Amino acid sequence: MNGSIHFYDFHPPVADIRDEVLEGLSRRPKQVAPKYFYDRRGSQLFDAITELPEYYPTRTEVDILESNGAQIAELLGNDCMLMELGSGSSRKIRVLLDALQPAAYVPLDISRAHLLDAATTLARDYPQIDVHAACTDYSNGFELPELPDHLARAAFFPGSSIGNFEPDDACALLRRVGCYLGEGGKLLIGVDLKKDTSTLNAAYNDTRQLTAAFNLNLLERINRELAADFQLQCFEHLAFFNEQAGRIEMHLRSTRDQQVRVAGQVIDFAEGESLHTENSYKYSVAEFQALAAGSGFSTEQVWTDDARLFSVHCLRYSG
Ligand SMILES: C[S@@+](CC[C@H](N)C(=O)[O-])C[C@H]1O[C@@H](n2cnc3c(N)ncnc32)[C@H](O)[C@@H]1O
Repeated sequence: MNGSIHFYDFHPPVADIRDEVLEGLSRRPKQVAPKYFYDRRGSQLFDAITELPEYYPTRTEVDILESNGAQIAELLGNDCMLMELGSGSSRKIRVLLDALQPAAYVPLDISRAHLLDAATTLARDYPQIDVHAACTDYSNGFELPELPDHLARAAFFPGSSIGNFEPDDACALLRRVGCYLGEGGKLLIGVDLKKDTSTLNAAYNDTRQLTAAFNLNLLERINRELAADFQLQCFEHLAFFNEQAGRIEMHLRSTRDQQVRVAGQVIDFAEGESLHTENSYKYSVAEFQALAAGSGFSTEQVWTDDARLFSVHCLRYSG
């Protein structure tokens, strides 16, 4: 079985996507969940964003992982079955694979084609690791394939994707991860730290406007998959740090009064009205440790960069 790749497709059906998008568009304020950013183009745009000078989180998290690989491997243990939530291009896990030497790698991602490409390349580059890739929505009680049950389990959740959830939902998701891991199971998780507003705002308003293209791609995807007629030039990207809530918010703001058809329904937008597309909560180390404790995890180790832009936590589930 060594070096084999298994692919499991639990991608949400289009009817579920339609129902969820229409429900979000019926709310005040209107909203669509950030998981819908990630069709193939959305994943490609995200990868391009991670290379931008303003987007400090990826390079900072990679530096932390590179600098602490041996200690991370010691804490997580070799020969485990390593699940990654929101694996994207599986770039960060590569930093750890040589030190960790897991027996199996289980990348989970909602972006089907991108996941298949990344998992196939990784299985080719690391033939000693069995890859079980599952296209699934982890916000929805993540559906998992039958996995080998003789291996110790560990999980990796990078990119501060936990910040996309309301704190209560983040707690519930971490608890589900804990139940999957079992008592004593380890979770390595990357969390973006609170910092000055100008650094945060610049990271989500890059001068090349890739983040704007990423945000607007959501409308293009809805047009294609849900027979909608959003006119992209009539919406503008808006991203700012909401200090009181402790989060970056991304919106698409309507530049005029307009009507849009989505899956046969007419949706009214007033000029200036916004469609809320993402939250990205920022935590201090102590705030995140408290959230993790509320989900049944204790902290084994926390690493940050010298400028304290980003944190990586090794947590242990105690139920
Ligand atoms: C911010 S990107 C991070 C990618 C990569 N882990 C990194 O750290 O650079 C979020 C990733 O999670 C995936 N994702 C977002 N929401 C998801 C969900 N609800 N279920 C599964 N995957 C999701 C996206 O497709 C994307 O690959």
